[in-house]
Amino acid sequence: MAMAPLIVALVALLASTAVEAQTATDKAVLNFALNLEYLEANFYSCIAYGKPIGSSLWGMKGVAPTGCRKGKLSNRAFQYAIEVAQDEIAHVRLLRAVLGADAVDQPAMDLGASFIAAANAAASLALGSSVTLDPPFDPSANDLFFYHGSFIFEDVGATAYSGAAHLLETPAILTAAAQILSVESYHAGAVRLLLAQKAEEVAFKQPRLKTRQVVDAISALRDAVDGADDDDQGVTKSIKHGYTYNVVPADSNGLIYTRNTSQVLRIVYLGGASSGGFFPNGLNGAITTA
Ligand SMILES: *[C@@H]1O[C@H](CO)[C@@H](O)[C@H](O)[C@H]1NC(C)=O
Repeated sequence: MAMAPLIVALVALLASTAVEAQTATDKAVLNFALNLEYLEANFYSCIAYGKPIGSSLWGMKGVAPTGCRKGKLSNRAFQYAIEVAQDEIAHVRLLRAVLGADAVDQPAMDLGASFIAAANAAASLALGSSVTLDPPFDPSANDLFFYHGSFIFEDVGATAYSGAAHLLETPAILTAAAQILSVESYHAGAVRLLLAQKAEEVAFKQPRLKTRQVVDAISALRDAVDGADDDDQGVTKSIKHGYTYNVVPADSNGLIYTRNTSQVLRIVYLGGASSGGFFPNGLNGAITTA
């Protein structure tokens, strides 16, 4: 059963984590993670089921995301969307349970215009001039665009959990965070391979861009907005005559790069410091500003 480890983690955490066992830092970091999980959970829930996550998971003043659309996907792509949606919704439920009354409410999130803006910015960066993609980027439109949308988030999730690990102070919470990180990495690896397999497919006709070029552009955009480091990697890499798959964005030690909270915020705000992009009013909680 795919759900079993999460249920085990949930039970273990609920059993072992008295509220007083959590430090203020743990709460701040878990709430930061909860904001990202709200984003992912709603993205996949919209694609898979055509509706946001259940409002019982939003908190008292939580709000519905805008731009929620059901995917027009093949059966196989729906299976991926549904599986990942269930994981991400379970992460929201788990983090809310661990945080209890300290859990932040679901913030305003944009799943429509933000994707169009991100894709146009990525293409403009790649082509060195202002570009408006045709058709406009819509992750619900087809399998390929859904995979691109998924790719935008999953690497960020994996690098964010890695980057925040050193901040966590309670061993049981660090263990659960590592378990969530592993799940995000499976998602990231799966979608990276799906995209790599479609590397030669034409994603946009105007301007003409193949999948691997779009992925490189998204990767370059994440690199451009998150600061001076140049760590992000596409799903293919150039070799002498052509390219080869690059499923795992690892360094020479076989380690994934990490992102601190500021770098993550810059990406989800699409360059903004305190709001913008996928979070028009910013995150909720203590960690909201890059
Ligand atoms: C995050 O990393 C960036 C790039 O390495 C660095 O400039 C920034 O100071 C770091 N911010 C925090 C809060 O650690």
